[in-house]
Amino acid sequence: MLKVAGIEFKDPFIISSGIVPLVDKFMNKICEKYLPSAITMKTLTLNALEPHKPPTVIKLRDGCYMNAIGLGNPGIDSLEGFQVKADCNLILSIGGNSVGEIKKVVERFEELRTTNKALREKVKIIELNLSSPNRKGYGESTSKFTLDITKEVSSVTSLPVFVKLGPWDNTVELAGKALEGGAKGITLINTLKGLALDREEFKPILSYGTGGISGKCIHQLAVRVIHDVYKEYNTEIIGMGGVFTWEDALELIAVGARLVGLGTAIIDRGYEVILEIREGFNTYLKEKGLKIEKVIGIGVRK
Ligand SMILES: Cc1cc2nc3c(=O)[nH]c(=O)nc-3n(C[C@H](O)[C@H](O)[C@H](O)COP(=O)(O)O)c2cc1C
Repeated sequence: MLKVAGIEFKDPFIISSGIVPLVDKFMNKICEKYLPSAITMKTLTLNALEPHKPPTVIKLRDGCYMNAIGLGNPGIDSLEGFQVKADCNLILSIGGNSVGEIKKVVERFEELRTTNKALREKVKIIELNLSSPNRKGYGESTSKFTLDITKEVSSVTSLPVFVKLGPWDNTVELAGKALEGGAKGITLINTLKGLALDREEFKPILSYGTGGISGKCIHQLAVRVIHDVYKEYNTEIIGMGGVFTWEDALELIAVGARLVGLGTAIIDRGYEVILEIREGFNTYLKEKGLKIEKVIGIGVRK
């Protein structure tokens, strides 16, 4: 058991945003079978957004992927009637194209929560996606408003707010703005924008052109960015980026992650990877006689 923003989580292993389809019955099944300590939902916006045309996800090389789904989602109202009974926490991921729109999504969620028991009981954290690179005007385009967005959102919800950022040159500075605006922690890292060309016509393979690189290719980037943010603010971090093994998870925890998100590893290897990583990590703690709290941030020199 460990606490994040004062909330109890079974263990550090959660599923990152965009991996589990937003279908409550399916989420229930994943919770029951693989026991993630939380599922982060696909980012929801005020109104539904169509995904980009296929191809939207490609494999670049072993364990490395690139996607440009473009924040395609059914909109926040799709949560009306949402039912998840299984024993795992949910993290609501929110996006939008302006300070006002992002605030409205959270206000709408708060309305839905008053009449929906599952949303009230299961959703423990709101994650603001200010970092997806795959739709103009959304995601990373909104990161310049990090301070205002975090302030506005924090003023309309009592849930802890985490701000999800990408691995950019100004990530440490933006993390500071998020914390100043009332965020309880930072989620790191989102995908990093890349480009892949086909070798016949030399045109982009993804329909959107560019896409977000994820998986093994970005793991050391995640380690470095989480390290830098933890060192600067000693804040709570939900860490992710190319975690395929328990050793990768340990590395993120050692630089300050309290929760570890699994994303591309699930796409590449299936949900069983959650069980493998949990078992390997628990065996490590047992053999070393360590408690998780001792390991969080152990690799960051103050
Ligand atoms: C197919 C796909 C869809 C994603 N969709 C979202 C999303 O809707 N919102 C979000 O914040 N991050 C999204 N992400 C980013 C992941 O949550 C995660 O931050 C990133 O992939 C790095 O972790 P990984 O290397 O373990 O996949 C998506 C990633 C992938 C691969």
